[in-house]
Amino acid sequence: MRYLTFALTKGRLALQTLQLLEKVGIRCEEMKDKNTRKLIFVNEEKKLKFFLSKGPDVPTYVEYGAADVGVSGKDIIMEENRKIYEVLDLKFGACRMCVCGPAQAAEMLRHHERIRVATKYPRIARDYFHNEKHQTVELIKLNGSVELAPIVGLSEVIVDIVETGSTLRENGLTVLEEICPLSARVVVNQVSMRLEYDRIREIVNALKEEIGREE
Ligand code: PRP
Repeated sequence: MRYLTFALTKGRLALQTLQLLEKVGIRCEEMKDKNTRKLIFVNEEKKLKFFLSKGPDVPTYVEYGAADVGVSGKDIIMEENRKIYEVLDLKFGACRMCVCGPAQAAEMLRHHERIRVATKYPRIARDYFHNEKHQTVELIKLNGSVELAPIVGLSEVIVDIVETGSTLRENGLTVLEEICPLSARVVVNQVSMRLEYDRIREIVNALKEEIGREE
């Protein structure tokens, strides 16, 4: 039996994924050791391998087949737009992709003005404004702390993730439009899905049942 390889998103998503995997009998003790510098972790009993990577890299590893299965945020999946199958909503990591800004910016949005939109997610923002709203905007790509942009005058609005809303509140910004709900998803390589269908289906079904029990 060959190893089935999982790519997990470093950080909170990986911890939640490992907790869920444990509940369905898949353990990877080595991975929980915070001091380790190891990159790959093995569960010999079930012939599974796990590695951690930066969020946006997970769909890349899965598309190329370096990982058979991945766990990634829906925001990343949409933005990366890789040729992979999305097979399960894990429900955790729930948040929303929104257009945010100062309350006054609502008028500009309503009148379809040519505004500047700062975001870590140019594809999602472009798709939303061009294809859904038919509004011409200027996109400005940033790499983090996007809430700064409207405060310092880089853009009129931002497209970003809102979870609790506290970053917006503490910076005098608000949700102006909601683009879509987000959460962690399981993605699968298209070839692995055919070659390892039974093993992947068994794991995905077990996860699905566990999520159903918790709801
Ligand atoms: C994310 C997002 C918001 C914040 C939203 O940023 O970009 O800034 O979390 O969460 P809240 O609604 O609970 O305040 P992250 O912490 O991932 O870092 P970043 O700003 O560097 O992208």
